Amino acid sequence: MSRIRKAIIPVAGLGTRFLPATKAVPKELLPLVDVPAIQVVVEELVASGIEQVILVTGRGKSAIVDHFDHSYELEDILRARGKESLNDEVTRISSMVRPISIRQKKPLGLGHAVLCAKDVVGNEPFAVVLPDDIIAARTPATLQLIERYEQYGAGVVAAMTVPDSDVSMYGIIGGEAMSDRIHRVKTLIEKPSLAMAPSRLAVAGRYVLPPQIFDILEQVEPGHGGEIQLTDALQTLAREEGLIGYEFEGTRHDIGDKFGFLKANIAFALERDDLGPALEAWLRERLTS
Ligand code: UTP
Repeated sequence: MSRIRKAIIPVAGLGTRFLPATKAVPKELLPLVDVPAIQVVVEELVASGIEQVILVTGRGKSAIVDHFDHSYELEDILRARGKESLNDEVTRISSMVRPISIRQKKPLGLGHAVLCAKDVVGNEPFAVVLPDDIIAARTPATLQLIERYEQYGAGVVAAMTVPDSDVSMYGIIGGEAMSDRIHRVKTLIEKPSLAMAPSRLAVAGRYVLPPQIFDILEQVEPGHGGEIQLTDALQTLAREEGLIGYEFEGTRHDIGDKFGFLKANIAFALERDDLGPALEAWLRERLTS
């Protein structure tokens, strides 16, 4: 079985929920404290053994590619000022990956964004990672999915249980439990009403997929919201080739949503030695005063 070496990160969305912040700044560069969200995701991929990162970008997103490039002027200035550890961090980021960037010329949907990377991925299985979903986990979430792909020889989607109130915000899985954390996917419905939802098991933003998904995506008609939906292609993949829903281990933050973004920032800051104790004391004081 081929090894999973490549990962697609779709970043061509408009990020309307964060306007006006995202008018000139890509949503993916908004930070978790001082680390851009896209970097957190790329670090997860590197730790999962991914060698090639493919960014599907749109207008106004070139600063994301710049973030992973060398900035010689900045590096010279940091060295000249004796800021060695900052310089080390800045150079480490540039050496981490050399991403390939592909333009999605119109935001026609997540399925279409994935299809844009077809020629670069070629005929091998690959990961798709949505940078709106930050997953803090002992084993990187993408690696957990890769291991399940290797175990079952079928595509894998990250799954998590959501409350009734959130069902209409996700792709929802209909299927049967195979073993602990593992479900055989039979149907997938994008953003169903509570009445139409086959379960409370939602798809989160991590996938490991066989290359056959590209042929399926080429046949998918616009679905929910007039967009080419990845969920619709996954539904066909589940029927024709099989698909696993895997309840990953870890804490997921939806940073595409304002409240989720704030919570992720607080959670990340609380974990840090330089900020955690002071933030915790400040929060306690605020909540009790
Ligand atoms: P969202 O549905 O969250 O859209 O996309 P968005 O534009 O990022 O954010 P809002 O809702 O307007 O605030 C889910 C993922 O799919 C990508 C986005 O970049 C995001 O990673 N996407 C979506 C594309 O790359 N292209 C598209 O046409 C649509």
